[in-house]
Amino acid sequence: MRKPIIFGNWKMNKTNAEAKAFFEGVDAHVTDKADFGVAVPFTTLGTCVDNSTKLHVAAQNMHFEANGAYTGEISAGMLNELGVKWVVLGHSERRQYFNETDKDINKKAAVAIENGMIPIVCVGETLYEFEADKTESVVRKQVSGCLSGLNADDVKNLVIAYEPVWAIGTGKSATVEIAQNTCALVRDEVRNLFGNDVAEAVRIQYGGSVKPNNIEEYMSQADIDGALIGGASLEVDSFKEIIDAIK
Ligand code: 13P
Repeated sequence: MRKPIIFGNWKMNKTNAEAKAFFEGVDAHVTDKADFGVAVPFTTLGTCVDNSTKLHVAAQNMHFEANGAYTGEISAGMLNELGVKWVVLGHSERRQYFNETDKDINKKAAVAIENGMIPIVCVGETLYEFEADKTESVVRKQVSGCLSGLNADDVKNLVIAYEPVWAIGTGKSATVEIAQNTCALVRDEVRNLFGNDVAEAVRIQYGGSVKPNNIEEYMSQADIDGALIGGASLEVDSFKEIIDAIK
């Protein structure tokens, strides 16, 4: 039985004061029905870790090198020092605006695992690809590219987030059927690459306009084990409603 996994993604939002207020409002409300967490800006990681007892804290990116001349980047060791155990990798906004490739994400995932962290690896097709009926080929290629060469036992423990780019921040969520079908093919690709045990263990999230009023429908699907939530993770009340929806 896969434990549900629900993470917020604050993207480039919240100061330290706002992050502290969020944790003061939400942390005590967290249940053991799922792994609940938030991916927060680098500047607020320390505050979030210090104010958390139950809510997991994730970084939104990291570099694959341990140190060196990479201005503006952060390493896995730096995240480790802060007590950060989770990292979102390859979010579509990183791919789209910062040219991240499957190869980069693959290197980052390997380094995150080496450093004892759990990567949340993001995949998903653009609107153009969706309309051209390319979802399956694009998503299978992203999964195989991002997970290439990883150890099967490590893949069991990581998380894959399927986020169709056309459903992010648009209020246009994928139908439950589309989300389920694509999460099923993500699992099938993991099965092809690493075998059935790994495919049955790996947790797959859907992301894209998930809200308190639609999360239960997504979570009822066989291959959807959780959600990665942008807008609705920013407010204390809506995040608490999301926690309450996971029974
Ligand atoms: P929204 O929930 O705002 O559509 O964002 C989804 C997302 O990109 C989470 O990583």
